[in-house]
Amino acid sequence: MLSSLPNNFRAIVLGASGAIGGALFKALSETPRCAAALAVSRSGEDAFDITHEPSVEATARRLAGHGPFNLILDATGVLVLDGILPEKRLDALNPAHLLRLLEVNAVGRAMVLKHFIPLLSRQERSIFGVLSARVGSIEDNHLGGWYGYRAAKAAGNAFLQAAAIEASRANPQAVFAALQPGTVASNLSKPFRSADQTISPDVSAAGLLQTLNQLQAKGRAWFVDHRGEEIPW
Ligand SMILES: NC(=O)c1ccc[n+]([C@@H]2O[C@H](COP(=O)([O-])OP(=O)(O)OC[C@H]3O[C@@H](n4cnc5c(N)ncnc54)[C@H](OP(=O)(O)O)[C@@H]3O)[C@@H](O)[C@H]2O)c1
Repeated sequence: MLSSLPNNFRAIVLGASGAIGGALFKALSETPRCAAALAVSRSGEDAFDITHEPSVEATARRLAGHGPFNLILDATGVLVLDGILPEKRLDALNPAHLLRLLEVNAVGRAMVLKHFIPLLSRQERSIFGVLSARVGSIEDNHLGGWYGYRAAKAAGNAFLQAAAIEASRANPQAVFAALQPGTVASNLSKPFRSADQTISPDVSAAGLLQTLNQLQAKGRAWFVDHRGEEIPW
């Protein structure tokens, strides 16, 4: 697993309390070549909350002493917030709720990029992967609806792309990727998908790590799914 990373590579999983984050952390913990897998979540040390920049900064500062890292994964994200389901129609749009979705999925992601990209190794191959969603693709939107989540994921992708281009100038070996994990059994997907319509977090995590292992640095970000297929932005 992750044979393209150096032996004894070091990794961080943000959002490790989630279904996919937890599975990614478990897979890395069971990978002998991974010298250290560090799990970060809201319920852990630093009360890491991506909507509160000081907590993101404090976590990054604390972990910097354990780096540099060859693999950083951000598995945070929300779909249903405050009990409000994704909008099916334009007339369901609520500005305060739209801003909340953007706050977590886009601005929160930007704060993660700001404080964690500097922790990537510059001497060796490194990978920064963030959990996006296929519905964040503007081009690949065939159904409409889910306005807030779609827009927030697209904005999160835009932050990643800009950060990837900037960071690649100083760190040309670094790989950046927005990831579609499949339709995965989790609290996030539960209201919308029955068990037989989902894959397990472990299957998703294995696919995501295999995909990341094969990506080459290219001076900008990839948008790929857990089977390694590219998604249009
Ligand atoms: N499941 C799917 O089918 C699917 C499909 C496409 C994309 N995705 C994406 O994959 C990612 C993981 O989803 P999942 O299915 O594993 O969902 P999940 O089980 O609900 O996990 C979400 C994670 O995000 C964390 N989080 C939410 N708000 C946060 C905040 N303000 N600060 C810090 N952490 C926060 C949660 O922390 P707490 O435990 O503290 O709440 C949890 O660790 C998300 O970005 C999601 O959009 C999932």
